[in-house]
Amino acid sequence: MRASRTLAMALPAIVAGQKPQYPPPFPPTPVLPSSINYAPSVTPNIMDTTAPNAQVLCPGYTASDVQETTTGLTADLTLGGQGCNAHGNDVKYLTLSVQYQSQERLAVRIYPKHLQPSNQSLYILSPSFTPQPGIGYGASKASSDLTFTWTNSPSFQFKVVRASSGEIIFDTYGQNRI
Ligand SMILES: *[C@@H]1O[C@H](CO)[C@@H](O)[C@H](O)[C@H]1NC(C)=O
Repeated sequence: MRASRTLAMALPAIVAGQKPQYPPPFPPTPVLPSSINYAPSVTPNIMDTTAPNAQVLCPGYTASDVQETTTGLTADLTLGGQGCNAHGNDVKYLTLSVQYQSQERLAVRIYPKHLQPSNQSLYILSPSFTPQPGIGYGASKASSDLTFTWTNSPSFQFKVVRASSGEIIFDTYGQNRI
């Protein structure tokens, strides 16, 4: 009997100790600074009726200096005129890199041509964040099940198709401006 009375007296203390405290005993710190309200709108263009129409205004890119190897290609992409900055600041000179890394893996990368250690991490994800396999042994364009097709007409466009099924995996054709 004595033991259970001790327990009954001890219980409320435990419950009170676990009870969350509302409001918190200190002024809550905002997660984002109030200066966030002065930042440009990030409403997606498709929901913003006042947004510029990239298909009308933007010059698109042109591929040049295309270097093909058995495992892929590289090329320069150059903005075809005045930037329209519809999707953020247009970068005038880009590099395109396409690697047939295995029969089932194709790596397409587009990144600014002129990068320095000071700004590289803004555009290229470091391998320390995610594995980035390279070109596997025996991989080649000829043995890949994935095809990369591109055109400069009317401006740079490309698509990736699974050859065995005809499935279109990625496609910017029909969008004159990417
Ligand atoms: C990266 O920094 C270099 C050196 O400041 C500059 O020339 C280059 O334009 C920058 N690249 C981009 C994409 O801003």
